[in-house]
Amino acid sequence: MRKELTLGLFGFGCVGQGLYHVLEESAGVKASIKKICVKHRDKPRPLPQELFTYDRAEVLDDPAIDVVVELIDDAEAAYDIVKSALQKGKHVVTANKKMLAEHLEEIYDLQQKHQRSVLYEGAVCGSIPILRNLEEYYDNDLIKSIEGIFNGSTNYILTKVFEEGKTYPEALATAQQLGFAESDPRLDVQGFDAKYKLVIAIAHTYGLFISPDDVINIGIDRISDLDLKYARENHLHIKLIARAIKIGNRVYGFVIPQYISDSSPFAAIRNEYNAVSVEGAFAEKQLFVGKGAGSYPTGSAVLSDISALSYDYAYEYKRHHRDHGVEFSNDLSVGVCVSFKHGAPVSLRDFENFESGYAADGREYMIGQATLSTLRRWQEHEDIGIILKPDAAFVPVSRPSESAKAGSYAA
Ligand code: HSE
Repeated sequence: MRKELTLGLFGFGCVGQGLYHVLEESAGVKASIKKICVKHRDKPRPLPQELFTYDRAEVLDDPAIDVVVELIDDAEAAYDIVKSALQKGKHVVTANKKMLAEHLEEIYDLQQKHQRSVLYEGAVCGSIPILRNLEEYYDNDLIKSIEGIFNGSTNYILTKVFEEGKTYPEALATAQQLGFAESDPRLDVQGFDAKYKLVIAIAHTYGLFISPDDVINIGIDRISDLDLKYARENHLHIKLIARAIKIGNRVYGFVIPQYISDSSPFAAIRNEYNAVSVEGAFAEKQLFVGKGAGSYPTGSAVLSDISALSYDYAYEYKRHHRDHGVEFSNDLSVGVCVSFKHGAPVSLRDFENFESGYAADGREYMIGQATLSTLRRWQEHEDIGIILKPDAAFVPVSRPSESAKAGSYAA
């Protein structure tokens, strides 16, 4: 039977206000907000003052509050709130992807220890219900890959730059005004936000708790006008793709922009929409599409978690319990197109397999297979553009002790 829940909110920004409105409109969810803890005393609030507090104890120490909904910006403060809430016997709903990616294993342990649930569907691709599908629907399938457009702001910027000829700063400013971008937009454009979401998705897909530091993220901020021209002339799009693939007993994960052909389902994903493609060994590819950012879409995912708590739902982390012998690795080569000015530290020797190269408009281009560690080295130089090929192959790099490669994967 569904329980009636009393909520305590932390934060009342874009997502908090979205949640408030979607909760008002949703007759089916039996939950009410008792207190909202906020930081700034002088900000005008659209709700009665008595609903707000500046003292976290008024939420955390109130025995009538069963669920803490954490929607603040600061990842470390958020982790502290989540930890205290669990210790005090409350369930938690959060959309804080940075906090989750950095502390997922500890949060998993705290849930086991305190027998309370932390749900976070809104943290990964906004309104797309991907985590519960990974937990429940795909339980018996062998997932070969999970990949897609995991960041709304960068997709919005790329759409506006490509289709409407807006400049990059103009498009970024609009993404900020619309509430899609992080308060530090470098997290979006440099691929960190998509990486945090990928780290969370990897835990629910492959059962691995990995550190975000181990995952390479290359952003859209180094895409040059000439890369855009190259894409247009070749009827290609550029999308920031987050991807995890399993080859043999290794899982590889990375966030890198990619040239996308018109025939790819990702080509049609525009503005702040996200898309997640899951490839199962038997189900083959399935595509989930939905708004990945914004007040109401993310608020609706948070509401869905609150609703799930009303019938005692908890993530079981089934693959973490089950999948032994699978490890995360960066020993992979990828099909890449690298662009740079004469004199930059890129050479033919960097490639495992060099395909072609040319020079145009004062820039040099090289295409071929290069390892993720080479991409990391190139990444140290701001002026080097790194974009995956449309049909990029992903080939495991054998370690010295191994004789055979375990197969490959093509995007
Ligand atoms: N800044 C994020 C994005 C918000 O643009 O996708 C949603 O997580």
